[in-house]
Amino acid sequence: MKSNHDVGSSPDSVRARRDEGKPGRAHPGRRGTMTVMTAPASSPPPSGSTPPARRVSRRIGAIAESATLAVDAKAKALKAAGRPVIGFGAGEPDFATPDAIVEAAVQAARDPKNHRYTPAAGLPELREAIAAKTARDSGLVVAASQVLVTNGGKQAVYQAFATLLDAGDEVLLPAPFWTTYPEAIALAGGVTVQVDTDESSGFLVSVDQLEAARTPCTKALLFCSPSNPTGAVYPREQVEAIGRWAVEHGIWVVTDEIYEHLVYGGATFSSMPVVVPELADTCVVVNGVAKTYAMTGWRVGWMIGPADVIKAATNLQSHLTSNVANVSQRAALAAVSGDLSAVEMMRAAFDRRRQTMVSMLNEIPGVVCAEPLGAFYAYPSVKALLGREIRGRRPATSAELAELVLEEAEVAVVPGEAFGTPGYFRLSYALGDDDLVEGVQRLGKLLSEAH
Ligand SMILES: Cc1ncc(COP(=O)(O)O)c(C=O)c1O
Repeated sequence: MKSNHDVGSSPDSVRARRDEGKPGRAHPGRRGTMTVMTAPASSPPPSGSTPPARRVSRRIGAIAESATLAVDAKAKALKAAGRPVIGFGAGEPDFATPDAIVEAAVQAARDPKNHRYTPAAGLPELREAIAAKTARDSGLVVAASQVLVTNGGKQAVYQAFATLLDAGDEVLLPAPFWTTYPEAIALAGGVTVQVDTDESSGFLVSVDQLEAARTPCTKALLFCSPSNPTGAVYPREQVEAIGRWAVEHGIWVVTDEIYEHLVYGGATFSSMPVVVPELADTCVVVNGVAKTYAMTGWRVGWMIGPADVIKAATNLQSHLTSNVANVSQRAALAAVSGDLSAVEMMRAAFDRRRQTMVSMLNEIPGVVCAEPLGAFYAYPSVKALLGREIRGRRPATSAELAELVLEEAEVAVVPGEAFGTPGYFRLSYALGDDDLVEGVQRLGKLLSEAH
């Protein structure tokens, strides 16, 4: 286990360099060996020294560029320059938003009443519809007043941590993790405590691991199932065991359910506060329309939590962004009020591509890909290829290998460094079947040259 503030493994090519290293500290309450690094916001200048003039604050200067967006941007730039790049970097469905949703937005844009601010917490009818959709889909029953509509799930993640954490509060973060979590935690003044998993456990964290990482400073656990980047889906019993452990120790759970509908191969999604109802008062659910309805560009997500937390987060949002774009909220209202036929169609396509990708990846010598059961990512290990020679170069890290793959095979993947676990690639299978096959073939051809 380690803190994700230890950024020594973050390559410049993937993550913008973080601020100067922060001192580590051993924590007396935690069992086992672990380094926990303080959050930038809580590092005072050395006593007696004159603080240097800074153009960008320490707090913001320490934020890394989103690695996934950076890879996607690089791939798109190369494509625009005429290179036939195939991008496995993007975390978004390749489908268009369903017509009925687009139509609702077009109608809304024509009505001047939607040219105005909405309440900061969102349109009342949307909050009602999200509460109803949540009861329908995950079984969690909440009041509309417990729903805060945000600019995407990403803002919900940030606001959840900003609302829950004081400086120095620790958040247990199972790794591999979505690249945004540690940045949101740091920005909120918290300290990430990374708890590593690997393919031997199917990338699932155990209660024993969490317990070993727990200290008196542990405030929250970030839980994400189905997972970005691994595609792991926690079985119900493990969700229950983790939820019970959290209740027992008074630990908050921020549970990210954005991929709830994208599960395959008999896996089922379980919502932690449904499986462990005693968690209701110490749990925040993050969700949104982006992945379920192919609506990444519309920027609508939400957080659900206890009334006091939602009220405080709404106060924060009222100063940050006021409200989500009114027309986008109307589109989201159409989405969550409608049926799930569009997501079922996408899910079937993703499932087909998932199977193709995983079997093709496992045929590449040196690549080992566990079967992802959710979301739309494969997370193969490329550890066996590191240090071997490919086209006159000897990449020592997955970040260097990803760079070589982009340059030589014109295929964009996100290296595991972006998710706290070097030695892996993340490939999204949310792209067209032909591109997918061609891209993995190119990857295989190049990597087979390793010697
Ligand atoms: C695990 C996870 N949570 C939340 C989000 C946020 O999605 P959005 O802000 O587009 O709603 C993403 C997007 O990639 C994600 O992968």
